[in-house]
This record gives sequence, structure tokens and C-alpha cells, in this order.
Amino acid sequence: MSLTNFPGAGVSHTGNPVTKVTMPALAEMKRQGKPISALTAYDYATSRLVDEAGIDMVLVGDSLAMVVLGHENTLAVTVDEMLHHTRAVRRAVRRALVVADMPFGSYHGTLSEALANAVRFVKEAGAEAVKIEGPRVELVRALTEAEIPVVGHLGLTPQSVHRMGGYRVQARTADAVERLKADAHVLAEAGAGAIVLEGVPREAAAAITAELAIPTIGIGAGPDCDGQILVFHDLVNLTFAPPAKFVRRYGDAAALIRNAVERYREDVEHRAFPSDEESYHLPESARQALQPKAEATPKLHAVRKA
Ligand code: KIV
Repeated sequence: MSLTNFPGAGVSHTGNPVTKVTMPALAEMKRQGKPISALTAYDYATSRLVDEAGIDMVLVGDSLAMVVLGHENTLAVTVDEMLHHTRAVRRAVRRALVVADMPFGSYHGTLSEALANAVRFVKEAGAEAVKIEGPRVELVRALTEAEIPVVGHLGLTPQSVHRMGGYRVQARTADAVERLKADAHVLAEAGAGAIVLEGVPREAAAAITAELAIPTIGIGAGPDCDGQILVFHDLVNLTFAPPAKFVRRYGDAAALIRNAVERYREDVEHRAFPSDEESYHLPESARQALQPKAEATPKLHAVRKA
């Protein structure tokens, strides 16, 4: 790469200069006490809107298994499916840090298999970091040594749904909070650049956030984390289910889309769409040539009468 062309000096889709958010930039935000905004996104259009709205970190979450692909939990999504969506997000995002979730099964075997899968996210899809669930210290160290930034994920880890017996708030006792803290510390020491804390009591997240030098990004973990993340589809009401306690809905895309599609259908059924203005037209000369010849009509009538 040219030393005069760092990714930090990028341009937006409209040609304006943008300063790329990087993993070290997130750490700097923590040092400066600036809250980090993060959202999931899975396709070109929505991730472009998310990026242009100034969100700092875009996570191609394995929640796509549920909110995009309609699975019951996150376990079914494959590496190839995650790569496909990460590429679309990568094409859209110019400023935010793009993090790809490593799906269930892609880092649960040997270290070398996990490393090879993580490399695919960087090489084939343009991810700038990968996220892995649980206190997998050896793996975080190996990825960091391989120059792949890692976001850890502790607390309610959705890929452990069967072990946890459902999606339950974690670390609800003093002992469990101590274990969570210890996990967060070892992940940070192993090289994680940030840690998502999901579904844990506010007090636990606050204590971990205060102790770590790397940023914590909370979801259902209270307001004291260094940043917050939500699932995009929760934010805009596209999940077809009552929201969890920690979700705040900022828009109603379901109502917007339903209304637009119903009005379109009605217009088609009443032949109100498309209008003449929404149609292409022949040039005048070609239109004239298509007109029936004025003298041809009487002759035909004459033949019929005869
Ligand atoms: O997959 C996902 O959406 C996530 C967020 C909940 C952090 O992991």
C-alpha cells in the first residue's frame, strides 16, 4: 500500500473526505470518554445508511441468521453466508469499523481451522476485525498475532443458547460477576481490541468498563459501557416480535414498508400505476409511423360491405 494513501484518508460515496474508524481509534475514544455508537447491518443499503448516519462500528452480526434469514437462533448461519453479507456491507461502508461475526462452528475446532476461517473474513470480505463469543484466550492471542483485530463477546452469548438453556441474563451473583470480570481481563490481555457485553446487570458491566483499558460495547448491559450496540432490525421494528427490555425502537420500518407496498398494490389493481408521465414514449416521428393510414380504413370497410 502507498504510504500516502492510508485508509484513514478515505472518501465518502458523495466525494467528501472521511476519517476511517479503526480499532485503535475506538481505544482512543475510550481514553477521551467519547461514547462509541455501534449497530449491526447485513446488506448494502442499510449499512450505507448506518455509515452515513455516523455510526462508529458496523457489526455484520450472526443475528442475520434470525433477522435476515428467518432461522430460530443464530446457530445455522454458515461462514459462506456470513462472507456474502460482509462483502455487501464492506462495499457500502466508508467510515465505520467493519467487524464480522464468526459464526457457530467456525472457531470451535482447532486453532488453525479458526485462524483460516478468520483470515477468510479479512481477505475475501474486507472485514477489519472479527468477533468471537466466549473467553477463548488462546484463539484471541493467535488471531492478534496473525494481525487480525478481535472483538470479544461475553455475558449472554447467543451461540451458547443450548448450554444456557435459553437467552437469559448472565452474571447475576457476585461470584458470577467476578468470573465475568476475570474473563474480560484475560481477553484484554490476550489482545482483544474491544469486548461486547451482552445481557448482564448494569453493575457488572460498569465494573468491567471501569477496570479495562479497552472499550466495552454493551447490549442489554446498561448505560455505563464505553459504547452501545443494537441489532438494526430491533431499532427500526423489523423483527416481528415484542422487543427485549433493552431495545429502544427509533423508527417503524414495518409500518412504512407495509403502507408503501399496500398503496402500490392498490394502485396496480386500479390501473393508477404507472401514469403516462411514468411511461417511456416514442419520438413523434416513430409515433406517426405507427398511426393507422387514414385512407386504409374506408377501403377495408368498403371491402367488407361488398
Ligand atoms: O450478532 C449480533 O447481532 C451480535 C450483537 C447482539 C452484539 O452479536
